[in-house]
Amino acid sequence: MSTIAHLSDVHFGRHDPEVVAAVEAYLFERRPDLVVISGDFTQRARNNQFQMAAEFVDRIEAGGLPVLAVPGNHDVPLYDVARRFARPLHRYKRFIDDDLCPYWENDDLAVLGINTARSLTIKDGSVSREQIERIRDAFNDVATHKTRILVTHHPLFAMPLEEEEGALTKVANRSSDALAAAADAGVDILLAGHFHRAYSVSAREMVDTAGPALVIQAGTATSTRLRGGEQQSFNWIDVVKDRVELQVQRWEERCFVSGRPTYFEFVDGNWRFAGRKEEEGVPAVPFEERAGGAS
Ligand SMILES: [Fe+2]
Ligand SMILES: [Fe+2]
Repeated sequence: MSTIAHLSDVHFGRHDPEVVAAVEAYLFERRPDLVVISGDFTQRARNNQFQMAAEFVDRIEAGGLPVLAVPGNHDVPLYDVARRFARPLHRYKRFIDDDLCPYWENDDLAVLGINTARSLTIKDGSVSREQIERIRDAFNDVATHKTRILVTHHPLFAMPLEEEEGALTKVANRSSDALAAAADAGVDILLAGHFHRAYSVSAREMVDTAGPALVIQAGTATSTRLRGGEQQSFNWIDVVKDRVELQVQRWEERCFVSGRPTYFEFVDGNWRFAGRKEEEGVPAVPFEERAGGAS
């Protein structure tokens, strides 16, 4: 088994220092195998904001925890137009990671990150043709027993909008091609952020041609940019091949509180909701009763 702490949208510059400290304490106490941070490191891509974000990442890495990061739309300067178009991710590369296609692997997991942040759009993301080829190739030599994970800032899927019945969120440009590549590459789990909303669902429940990936969205881990009354949170993901346990860690006043573990199992070529633990060792919902959106 391997464990991922999935953080997103930390937004230094609009962060809550108490929550940042609590995240770090949590990580060092429980020590995941990998910390994924799926973009929006800063509020406005300013030097001092990146400096704080870099120090956060440095502290995690100095504590012996590997970090895999991708940039978000807020990591591209918004008002500095010259910088936005000439060197959109210059500061991200300087402060956080100069690799915009990071890859990490251990005995259980193979994890690829893809940058979806662009200069030409303010909020929306995009996947390039080169990146789609990278998704196709990255997992070629990965042993079949390993769980394959793709990380983006912008979700590749449209999610139901809570505010409006039947409405869906926007997706990254070329996301359907990226999803086809992910399906061909045998990607098991898609991790993303951007909407500041914790959410998980089997991809096939949204798009028939999506392939079997399990979609896991993270809320904002540390920022005060809260949406829909949702508190700061991050995802705690235990992965054994064909079985995922997801626990959303939510900020409640002065500490993070673990949500009930939600289980997914890969059965007959598809991820299925496999219950939610009510109390120690007892799944509350029978395996057969699938639920759509969880968490
Ligand atoms: Fe964000
Ligand atoms: Fe974003």
